[in-house]
Amino acid sequence: MLNNNIGVIGMGVMGKNLAFNIARNGYSVSVFNRSYNKTMKFLLKNPLDRIFPFLSIEKFINSLNKPRCILLMIQSGSPIDEMINILLPYLNSGDLIIDGGNSFYKDTMKRFDFLQKKSIQFLGVGISGGEDGALYGPSIMPGGNIESYKLISPIFKKISAKYNQEPCVKYIGPNGSGHYVKMVHNGIEYSDMQLIAETYSLLKYLVGMNNIDVSNIFKKWNKGELCSYLIEITGNILCKKDINGNFIIDSILDVASGKGTGTWTANSALKFHMPCSVVTESVFSRYLSAFKANRMIASTILSGPDLSLSSDFDKEKFIEDIRKALYLGKIISYAQGFSLMKKASEHYLWNLKFSNIAKIFRSGCIIRANFLNDIVTAYSENNNLIDLLFTPIFQDIINLYHFSLRHIVITAINHGISVPVFSSILSYYDAYRTVNSTANLIQAQRDYFGSHTYQRIDQSGSFHTNWLE
Ligand code: 6PG
Repeated sequence: MLNNNIGVIGMGVMGKNLAFNIARNGYSVSVFNRSYNKTMKFLLKNPLDRIFPFLSIEKFINSLNKPRCILLMIQSGSPIDEMINILLPYLNSGDLIIDGGNSFYKDTMKRFDFLQKKSIQFLGVGISGGEDGALYGPSIMPGGNIESYKLISPIFKKISAKYNQEPCVKYIGPNGSGHYVKMVHNGIEYSDMQLIAETYSLLKYLVGMNNIDVSNIFKKWNKGELCSYLIEITGNILCKKDINGNFIIDSILDVASGKGTGTWTANSALKFHMPCSVVTESVFSRYLSAFKANRMIASTILSGPDLSLSSDFDKEKFIEDIRKALYLGKIISYAQGFSLMKKASEHYLWNLKFSNIAKIFRSGCIIRANFLNDIVTAYSENNNLIDLLFTPIFQDIINLYHFSLRHIVITAINHGISVPVFSSILSYYDAYRTVNSTANLIQAQRDYFGSHTYQRIDQSGSFHTNWLE
């Protein structure tokens, strides 16, 4: 009779690597996969110390310590519900199911309520870090009841990434909050990636640098305030060659796909009336990239300005301006992401602790970046901060760096280089610091054609004008 500490269902790359990580940290792990896949075949033939594979769900469940902890690492959506229904007949009151995939947070909320009625505990857990993170230390965002979290927290703390010895896992909040935070993490991931892609485009097509030089620029930047995982891997990607000695980057089709979490973040921003322009533009950029056939036609019939720079163009200054604009863009992108989480936290009464969220983003996850330390400091001082942009540390940088952002956006526009996120960040920034916007005209138009009424700045109440009179 086995008494294993945890069961992992789903032996895809993430599930397998998490199981190995848990076992390496001294826990006994039962594993199960619905189909007899490569990993299961390997495990059954060569059982590893502390990893116990099962072909029957009943035996898998009976091999676990009570209350049982079962981690689902399977495809999000209906497969999660199907697996829950398969597990339910074998579970006892108080057992814990953990969904560690990229599930939609509203599904997690529904599953939480459904399982609570059956006295089964449920945690919706965001896990970030890709394959390597799962194996050596991911960033973990658990949502659900605190008591459920306490059951699994010793394992999570051991297997997670560490930042200065501090585990990158902290209780996030009730029901769907862990998956919501992971969703916004992914939205920021989309934004970081798009900002870096626009940077690559400016360096390659406008400045005219080769792959090695651009790679070296990213490697250099990674030693400064931009230091982050995505900048680091970009430096590595750009200098990688295939067996024929050609740069791999030059052979990759320029069509970006995605599994949807960026779109969910943009949708959530729209739902909450939050102007998260960075993630929304980043999602649109991926969609536009998929219009490859149209772009090929357009490139032959629609014209643009000349790409070449004038002979006195200061390339060194321009490159430094790109660096500053990229850092400023990153600050605004993370600020929008945190503001969105604040809005969701207020709406769902999650009571999110933003310094904790910033802390667990510092290592293991895809958006890990040195400047998250400043975000930790800002929210440690005040969890109710209106906006990260209002903190002195970010204010000082923004007030200096917006000139660089203007310079690169103007230069890109003048030479026909598309920089949708850089330019939308600049527009957002300028609109955000404008006291008197032009929404008065929008209100007048709405009232003109639809009697929608408007408010006045000099009197209270609602007003309607008969505009044709
Ligand atoms: C992570 C990542 C991961 C995500 C991939 C792909 O935190 O480890 O966010 O969860 O699934 O990055 O995302 P897209 O396919 O949507 O680009």
